[in-house]
Amino acid sequence: MKILGIETSCDETGIALYDGKANQIVFEALYSQAEEHDLYGGVVPELAARDHINRLLPLLKNKMKGSSISMKEIEAIAFTNGPGLRGPLMVGAGFANSLSYALDIPVIPIHHMEAHLIMAKYDAEDLTYPFISLLVSGGHTLIVKVSSPNAYKVIGQTKDDAVGEAFDKTAKLLKLGYPGGPEIEKRALLSKGKHHFSFPRPMIDSKDLNFSFSGLKTSVLYKVKDLSEKEDLSEDTVNDIAFEFQNAAIDCLVKKSLKACLIEQSQSLVLSGGVAANKYLREELEKHKGTINLYYPDQKHCTDNGLMIAFAGFQKIKEQTKDFSIDVAPRWSLENVQ
Ligand code: KG4
Ligand code: ZN
Repeated sequence: MKILGIETSCDETGIALYDGKANQIVFEALYSQAEEHDLYGGVVPELAARDHINRLLPLLKNKMKGSSISMKEIEAIAFTNGPGLRGPLMVGAGFANSLSYALDIPVIPIHHMEAHLIMAKYDAEDLTYPFISLLVSGGHTLIVKVSSPNAYKVIGQTKDDAVGEAFDKTAKLLKLGYPGGPEIEKRALLSKGKHHFSFPRPMIDSKDLNFSFSGLKTSVLYKVKDLSEKEDLSEDTVNDIAFEFQNAAIDCLVKKSLKACLIEQSQSLVLSGGVAANKYLREELEKHKGTINLYYPDQKHCTDNGLMIAFAGFQKIKEQTKDFSIDVAPRWSLENVQ
């Protein structure tokens, strides 16, 4: 079963052709619009939608040309139906549905966060249910109890900013590039610890499994304002702020996800979404490998990509009913996945 995955929920145009039976990637391609949005310090939805229109077909044609596969061999199409930005979602949905109609093959709408979550299973054949998933991206920070395929219960979430958003906003404050997560991580690694900044870890000791990141970001804002009144921020200062911000944010994620495993008596923790690419987060969780089994996708498949959509589509193909209507879902709770 060869299944084409299409991802256009935000600013990455991702495609992949996945052979489910052979568990092989036939091809994958990703076009990142990050450079374009960097000019504005964040994603501009209208520009993102237009760029997906320009990129999707050339990406697919180029990959088809370079492979020995013909269009007729594609057996199903999976696409991101939400949550995400309405315009970019519409582009992917229109593209996937038209192609499915033309090729007369099934089309499968996929929940973007579910695809992130499922992607951790790609290299983890020994992962068994139930497990806890920490889903961390630019728009979501969720702790999910996964009892069986399609049975998700959100048991913790952010009360304000998503953790990826906090990374992005903090990077913007520090005049680093977009997306902010990799920039903060890079700068934190360069920190020589000259300044000992101390930022809050909001809600870290709360009894529930929720998070809050806006106070952390605001605390960085005040610190930056305060320091900038006295002098220009030196590279060392920026590195030290990035270091302490990352420590604070990751401490919250680690503490609450371990607590979730304990409460739910889960031995397996699955880490997914763009922020799961963060090495410090992985290292901090790896320290608990004696008490939990830890799973995460390779770094390139943590951030948005076409393969996660194709892979999730393959898991769902048996439930597919033919439906060519386009009905994107910019707001879609993980608990309402069918
Ligand atoms: O999953 P993703 O690619 O897109 C969404 O679904 O939102 O996640 C993007 C988010 C961005 O906020 C980005 O800054 C963050 O993931 N991110 C990271 C890292 N790489 C990407 N955050 C921390 N450390 C990283 N290495
Ligand atoms: Zn994502």
